[in-house]
Amino acid sequence: MADGNKKAAAERSWRITGALILDPFTGREGQGTVWVEAGRVVERPSGAFPEETVEASGLWLIPRLTDIHVHFRSPGQEWKEDLRSGSMAAAAGGFTVVATMPNTDPVVDIPALVAWQRLEAERLGLVRVWPIGAISVGLQGKALADLWAMQEAGAVGFSDDGRPVADSRLMRAALSYSRSLTGPIIQHAEDPGLFAGASMHEGSVSHRMGIPGAPAEAESVMVWRDVQLAALTGGRLHIAHLSAPGSLEALAWAKRRGLQVTAEATPHHLLLTDEAVAEWGYDAVTKVNPPLRPAAMREALVEAVREGLVEVIASDHAPHHADEKGRPYTEAPFGISGLETSLGAVLTALVHGGLLSPLEAMRRMTAFPHRLLGQAYPGLVPGAPADLTLVDPFHEWTVDPGRFYSKGKNTPLAGARLRGRAVATMVDGCWVMREGEVIDPCADN
Ligand code: DOR
Repeated sequence: MADGNKKAAAERSWRITGALILDPFTGREGQGTVWVEAGRVVERPSGAFPEETVEASGLWLIPRLTDIHVHFRSPGQEWKEDLRSGSMAAAAGGFTVVATMPNTDPVVDIPALVAWQRLEAERLGLVRVWPIGAISVGLQGKALADLWAMQEAGAVGFSDDGRPVADSRLMRAALSYSRSLTGPIIQHAEDPGLFAGASMHEGSVSHRMGIPGAPAEAESVMVWRDVQLAALTGGRLHIAHLSAPGSLEALAWAKRRGLQVTAEATPHHLLLTDEAVAEWGYDAVTKVNPPLRPAAMREALVEAVREGLVEVIASDHAPHHADEKGRPYTEAPFGISGLETSLGAVLTALVHGGLLSPLEAMRRMTAFPHRLLGQAYPGLVPGAPADLTLVDPFHEWTVDPGRFYSKGKNTPLAGARLRGRAVATMVDGCWVMREGEVIDPCADN
């Protein structure tokens, strides 16, 4: 199916010139030209193929923009998202690689489903899809799934995301197992008892609105347990969508001891507070798990990302159907779409906000995610797969979910002004998005 585009890419030379190259894999930062031929970065074109120049002055050129936390809902919940719509959303957002969470129906807890997701995404020919396998069979939190077999089939990490691994004995086993795996155990940290019945963060806003909330400790008590289990086992722990100050303390504790513990933050937790719940009234567009936190907690998270304690930014792209999100606040599902706003939100909050240099911000969305998943990429060096994104860092735009490629239009950033967005995405030397338009992989370009 993807033959037209791929074939065209295999027979082209692209000269991308004038851009500011920001390559966190090699540390290269400066104006330059990148040559791409037959899907790879090359020193010089061979002359065997037609050459085209892409004038990219004023843009940034970033290799391998990666989002390690997305929900593509396939198999089983394709009314929310499927591999095609999710991949299109990723390409539109500038991402060349996404790692997909296994809370599908059926759950991705066997090698065949991991292999199917990989093959299906390759067939679509848009972005690279790296499946994350479940930790426990059926996400039931009881029996360990066959992590090794899933890794053999292409899984890059393991998570029961959407649900915490509550049983400490099972978590201990998973972390012990991870010592012989490439990818980490990714925990959706939440104490089920403390979180029970909650729809948002517990605090003055939840009290004002009469919406049941859960304290930040519902997250952090679980992170404290897990870092202790990481110490006990020597396993590799990654904390998904970290949002609570107590979790930051646990993470710092783990890092001081040299444990193999990492964490990610989402753009929405970096940009928004629980005041957004009040601003949106009782619209479940702000309902996300973990919930949006008060300003002081948001600021602590931003600081942790700035100093590198939290080393990765990932969207937790969690699309749902409008009918589901349209339910009363306490009945609607948790989750917001993030792939098409992630880059703009990060640039707006962190780079234009003066907190991180462009190279450092992009490191958290490229080299660091690769490192924590144990996946190699050499950067923009000859021979590397030509996966790159052109970014207009100063383009100001208003978020309009009606224009999303994702089936999920639910985002509290709707109507927000962001500064910076992807203008072109190339995967394997093939343009999958240009000027905001995702390119049909069947087309001859
Ligand atoms: O808000 C969320 N939605 N948080 C999660 O952890 C799961 C996700 C989903 O699957 O919808």
